Amino acid sequence: MGAKIRKAILPVAGFGTRVLPATKAVPKEMLAVFDRPAIQYVVDEARAAGIEHIVFVTGRNKSAIEDYFDVAYELEESLRQKNKTAQLEDLKPTRLEAGAASFVRQQYPNGLGHAVWCARDIIGDEPFALLLPDMIMVPDSGAPGCLEAMMDVHAAHGGNVIGVSAVAPEFAHQYGIVAVGAKKTQGFEIADMVEKPAIGTAPSNLYINGRYILQPQIFNILETQERGAGGEIQLTDGMHKLMAQQTFHGVEFQGRVYDCGDKIGYLRATAALALANGGFSADARAALAEELAIAAARAGS
Ligand code: UTP
Repeated sequence: MGAKIRKAILPVAGFGTRVLPATKAVPKEMLAVFDRPAIQYVVDEARAAGIEHIVFVTGRNKSAIEDYFDVAYELEESLRQKNKTAQLEDLKPTRLEAGAASFVRQQYPNGLGHAVWCARDIIGDEPFALLLPDMIMVPDSGAPGCLEAMMDVHAAHGGNVIGVSAVAPEFAHQYGIVAVGAKKTQGFEIADMVEKPAIGTAPSNLYINGRYILQPQIFNILETQERGAGGEIQLTDGMHKLMAQQTFHGVEFQGRVYDCGDKIGYLRATAALALANGGFSADARAALAEELAIAAARAGS
């Protein structure tokens, strides 16, 4: 039912203040999560779900992202001359095909809704995916990626689709939470959504996890939207308005979500992705166990 989703927006213009000082001169999205920048995992997820074109909404100090997804001619030539084929292979997913990426500037981080609106001309009049690049999704064994699962629900129901994950009820007030309506064979109708509900009032334990499929009418809404919480143009406010006109479905992601925009989330992601990396998993496990034992011994002495 839903038209094919070809384009995805990855907003990367935020200041990353929760992970300062690491993000003073290096974009948050370029911090290495084990052996590759956080954003590589998210681009991989988008492409695995069939995305053909990525629109990066960037800002000043973010040019490393554009360079990272380009060809690195001197480096690659040097690796070729030295027959370093494994390293050349490692670089393959970092090269986006010519013309398959666009970069648009958000001159000041005025909020996620504003960042999305900055991509309006490049997206045009078609539904699109939105992936927050500081959220890394690791599917359970055999489960599809988060966006891939959402694509199926969009194909079945059309409209807007939001990725959700379960959160312990005592933390629900820190997130955007959805109210669950009618269950469908795939996913469920979203009856409402509440940004950071007061403690004890959350309509469910399912939070909006950073993956969206949205209809282009969101751009008209964001265009005239007033500033919301924090003086920023909030995407949730815009989606709330769009709910009056269009359907929203939720899909619960089968896997782990790591928020790399938070210091402990970033630490967890680094450990988890090292442990999940076939070639390094045993060594990573031994190294982490040893560090934990050393830290415990120091704390006890
Ligand atoms: P976050 O709120 O997690 O990112 O936005 P932030 O603003 O960088 O984080 P803190 O609170 O200062 O630590 C989610 C994503 O949206 C982008 C961010 O770069 C991040 O990837 N974003 C956010 C923008 O591109 N523009 C904005 O105005 C806000």
